[in-house]
This record gives sequence, C-alpha cells and structure tokens, in this order.
Amino acid sequence: MEPHNWTDIIAENRDVAPGGLWRPRDCLARHRVAIVVPYRDRESHLKVFLRHMHKFLQKQELDYGIYIIDEALPTRFNRAMLMNIGYAEASKQANYSCYIFHDVDLLPEDDRNIYNCPEQPRHMSAAIDKFSYKLPYYGIFGGVSAFKKEHFNLINGFSNKFFGWGGEDDDLYERTRFHKLKLTRYSMKIARYKMIKHNNEPLNRPNPKRMTLLYSGKKRFKTDGLNSLKYQRLDLQKRPLYTWVHVNITE
Ligand code: UDP
Ligand code: BGC
Ligand code: MN
Repeated sequence: MEPHNWTDIIAENRDVAPGGLWRPRDCLARHRVAIVVPYRDRESHLKVFLRHMHKFLQKQELDYGIYIIDEALPTRFNRAMLMNIGYAEASKQANYSCYIFHDVDLLPEDDRNIYNCPEQPRHMSAAIDKFSYKLPYYGIFGGVSAFKKEHFNLINGFSNKFFGWGGEDDDLYERTRFHKLKLTRYSMKIARYKMIKHNNEPLNRPNPKRMTLLYSGKKRFKTDGLNSLKYQRLDLQKRPLYTWVHVNITE
C-alpha cells in the first residue's frame, strides 16, 4: 500500500463534515449509521481505512458518522469496552438507529455489502482473506458486526471484562443467542474483506483468562456491559474525517 499523507486524504474527502459525518444531499437516508472503531496506535491502518470507507459508504448513500475510540496507555487493550464507549459517545452526538462495530484493519471488498442494520444482528466480516475467505467456525462474531440500537441495548452491549486479545466477540455471540436474536450474514461472496497485515501488539496479547471468562459469561450478561460501563473521557475532537474520542479505562 502506498503511503498517503493526511493533507491528501482530507483533500480527497472535502464533502465530509468535521467529525467524519456525511449524508446524501438529495435524498433522506433510511438509516443513521454510526461506525464505531476500537483503536490504539495504528495510524497507517487508519489512513487506509478512512480512504476506503468514506468512498465506500457514500456509494451506499448512507447517513453516517465515523467514531474512533482511542484507548490511552498503559492499560491492556479492551476492544469490547471500546465498542461500548463508542456506542455511548456516538449516541450523545446524534440519534443513530444502527451501530456498526468495526476493526480498523478490515476493508470491505464488495459494494453489495450494505452497511445498514437489518431486523436481526449481522456478522458482516464473514469472509476474510486472512482466513482464506472461509468462516473459521460457525459462531465467529469478530471483525465487523451490525446491531440495531434496540438490540444492542437489549443484550447490554459487550462485556467489559475482556482485556487483551480474544473471546469478547464469542461472548457477544452468546449474548445475542441468549436474548433469542438470530445472527445473520450476507453470502460469502458479498461478505468479503481484506485485513491489513499486522503483528499482535504487546498490550493485546491473547488473554489467558478468555476461556474462563467466556464459559462463565452468562451469569454476567445482566450486570456486565453497557449498564456497568466506567471510563474517563480524556478528549473528544471533531477531526476532519472522524470523531476522535480519547479514553482512559482501568483494569
Ligand atoms: N486495535 C488497535 N490497536 C491495538 C490493538 C488492536 O487499534 O494495539 C484494534 C484495531 O481496530 C484492530 C482490532 O482492535 O483491528 C482487533 O485487534 P487485532 O486486529 O489485533 O485482532 P485480530 O482480529 O486481527 O486477531
Ligand atoms: C477468539 C476470537 C477470535 C477468533 C478468530 C477465537 O479463538 O476467541 O476472539 O475472533 O478466534 O481469530
Ligand atoms: Mn486484525
């Protein structure tokens, strides 16, 4: 991937409003969609992601905003908690009906992969190049997922307890099933993504407790999630191509 500088990327996207907001000019979009991205120190990914996503979402004529939730050091990375924070912060900014939780390194390849929220939660990133465009296992719910606001509330969001890599998306799948929601997917031809190559960061190493947490998750669905979310918002800036939310969390 050729390197790009921010000035050029911003110039390519002059019609995006501060905070990373865009809506079609000549029609009323059916959905207001918040794209929530868990983030720390992946600037090169962020550039590629924004260059790709703004154009991609605009072709779909969506009314959307991009929220980058940046976890301060030194706490271990907590992807799930950043999603909950993104949900809470985006909700304060606008009346979104649909939330798409999105890794920064995943790029949708097919324009038929519509970024809306259907009647049931949708696992968007079913076919990733890293997994040879196959589902590694049926219940995988990582990468990119889409929830209507009311459903995300119903399941109490993600768990806040998964620090480090792994398991949090499996817990989300269990919450979804527990609440009698059905996980849906586009066909494997449509749900295709490229993952930008990366190593696993020291503060996002596989969490040795992830399986224990996962197996005991059910007893916490009601008490661990959106309704127990605690964080400190250090900053919020409406940058040209995204809303940046800098947060501190503790383990
Ligand atoms: N992430 C990040 N900085 C980190 C670790 C993770 O921004 O130090 C975010 C980023 O959005 C990334 C996601 O968390 O895509 C999931 O982490 P990772 O890509 O390492 O997991 P994978 O799904 O590739 O195993
Ligand atoms: C982890 C998930 C992850 C999946 C694919 C599983 O073992 O628990 O969090 O999404 O592997 O990498
Ligand atoms: Mn990745």
